[in-house]
Amino acid sequence: MDLAKRFPKKVKTKKAREVTLRIPDEGDVKEMQRFINELVEEDAPILKNEKIKLTDEKKYLEGLLKEIKSKKSVNVYAFYKSKLIANTGVKVGKFRGKHMGNLGISVSKDFRDEGLGQLLMKDLLFLAKNYLNLKKITLAVLDGNLRGIHLYKKMGFSEYGRLPEANFYKGDYVDEILMYKDL
Ligand SMILES: CC(C)(COP(=O)(O)OP(=O)(O)OC[C@H]1O[C@@H](n2cnc3c(N)ncnc32)[C@H](O)[C@@H]1OP(=O)(O)O)[C@@H](O)C(=O)NCCC(=O)NCCS
Repeated sequence: MDLAKRFPKKVKTKKAREVTLRIPDEGDVKEMQRFINELVEEDAPILKNEKIKLTDEKKYLEGLLKEIKSKKSVNVYAFYKSKLIANTGVKVGKFRGKHMGNLGISVSKDFRDEGLGQLLMKDLLFLAKNYLNLKKITLAVLDGNLRGIHLYKKMGFSEYGRLPEANFYKGDYVDEILMYKDL
């Protein structure tokens, strides 16, 4: 499958906002930094809770682009009027776990509950199966992230375990729920 033929593509959110989905490129570093730091500032239920510097984001992006090129990762980013508003990605496992991938996703606060998470996950799961040839996808979500858990179950993920009190979030130790889906 040729990613260049599949992307960029336009989709509409439930509020009829037109969003462009595409694979990240070298020019995205500043938007990526702004996007992640906005989530950190919001104290969103993600693993990262420290803002990232531009130099570190540059290194991260360099590594990510190499991974995408070598099919070790695939990522889909969503832009609204040139602003990065959501991203999702799958990182391929290693050694005996090469047939599996780990998924991450985040949507900017102003764009949640518009169906973007579902649109992005559908695309990403398609790529995980048909482009990366993966057999299984895993993810981790903080207990209490009801929107995330609802979306993942809707997309066919099931809970296979939880790590008690794995994350300190908003003043409490919170379980990490582990989920998987066979492709
Ligand atoms: C979790 C997240 C990725 C979902 O993306 P999204 O674009 O908001 O998702 P969608 O709009 O496609 O779907 C959200 C669903 O959750 C439902 N939902 C919203 N709040 C809910 C709640 N409190 N309890 C249960 N379901 C809820 C919505 O109704 C919708 O379901 P529906 O399509 O059946 O109506 C996004 O909200 C996000 O990035 N949140 C902050 C960061 C984060 O949690 N990242 C994931 C870390 S594992």
